[in-house]
Amino acid sequence: MENLEELKKEILDKINNSNVLKDLDDIRIAILGKKGKLTDMMKGLGSLPLEEKISLGKSLNIVKSKIEEAIEKQKKFLEEKALEEKLKSETLDVTLPIRPETQGRIHPVSKIYEEVAAIFGQMGFDVADGPDIEDQFHNFNALNMPANHPARQMQDTFYLNNDPTKPFDMDTAYVIRTHTSGMQIRTMEKQQPPIRIIAPGRTYRSDYDATHTPMFHQVEGLVIDKNITLAHLKGCLYDFMKAFFELDELPVRYRPSYFPFTEPSAEMDIGCLKTKNELKIGAGTDWLEVLGCGMVHPNVLRAGGINPDEYQGFAFGLGVDRLAMLKYGIPDLRTFFESDVRWLKHYGFTPLDFSSMTGGLSDNGGLTR
Ligand code: DAH
Repeated sequence: MENLEELKKEILDKINNSNVLKDLDDIRIAILGKKGKLTDMMKGLGSLPLEEKISLGKSLNIVKSKIEEAIEKQKKFLEEKALEEKLKSETLDVTLPIRPETQGRIHPVSKIYEEVAAIFGQMGFDVADGPDIEDQFHNFNALNMPANHPARQMQDTFYLNNDPTKPFDMDTAYVIRTHTSGMQIRTMEKQQPPIRIIAPGRTYRSDYDATHTPMFHQVEGLVIDKNITLAHLKGCLYDFMKAFFELDELPVRYRPSYFPFTEPSAEMDIGCLKTKNELKIGAGTDWLEVLGCGMVHPNVLRAGGINPDEYQGFAFGLGVDRLAMLKYGIPDLRTFFESDVRWLKHYGFTPLDFSSMTGGLSDNGGLTR
């Protein structure tokens, strides 16, 4: 009997000192399991004389229920403790900045593409995509620039030999597109008016200085419908520029120009303040060229399979790199393509700062840069 008291105390101590549920369960098995200490003792009762059997059996039962009670209590305690620890380890402070800190940045050129698509998208334009390697029909001929047309010399074209088994043939050679204007033709070939598309893409010319790189970026625009006039062109591009530079008013002028694929043709300038170290859009008395545009030439409509007596249209070509330099004050175009991480960190945008007309083009809840 004395031993039993001691054993009980020892077991209860063990139970109350257990720290994790697994230990507690091990104790339970060691005492009350099939081969447990107490179970063994109960099995041993059978061999005792009746009186002892009764009195020891009673005591054992009392000890057993005490132990069961203690295990139950400790189990609850440990379960609560475990839950509390879990909750503590899972607390989330939603006001903390994102971790790990985002490393990647969106390149300013990608950002401009997004912004241009967001603005024209809201005006109802679709986005068209075409090949970088182009045939001369789409890059030149169909755009009212037949072979030997002097305007071909305006663009320092990269030609590709399209059949390596034969000597280079200037007449059939492919080009890497010198402009996105070929997309005007590709669009007309696929679709009857009304047409309202922009075509962003890479373009290539053999040129290299602070404002020219062999690969650069353009966005072509094309609108064709019945009764389209120069007024539509002017209104559309003026609205675009105001939205793009995020200014309510912006001085613009259209300067007569020449492109073979438009008649009349113009270039659009925006008013700015140009000093040695500063370029400010919408102020001052200087002018800066931002795009070429015009009314689509009847020959171009014909080449695209559209009747010029029934339909008219306007087209424009934006220099994306130029726009990025202007909007974000980046002085040297060549740095765009140097893949310098420090540069990208400075001029790039966080991926969450997406452009939309409702969310704000370049300012999205303070998440810029
Ligand atoms: N393709 C011209 C260039 O790369 C830009 C351009 C001018 C596009 C006038 C047009 C346009 O669509 O109408 O210099």
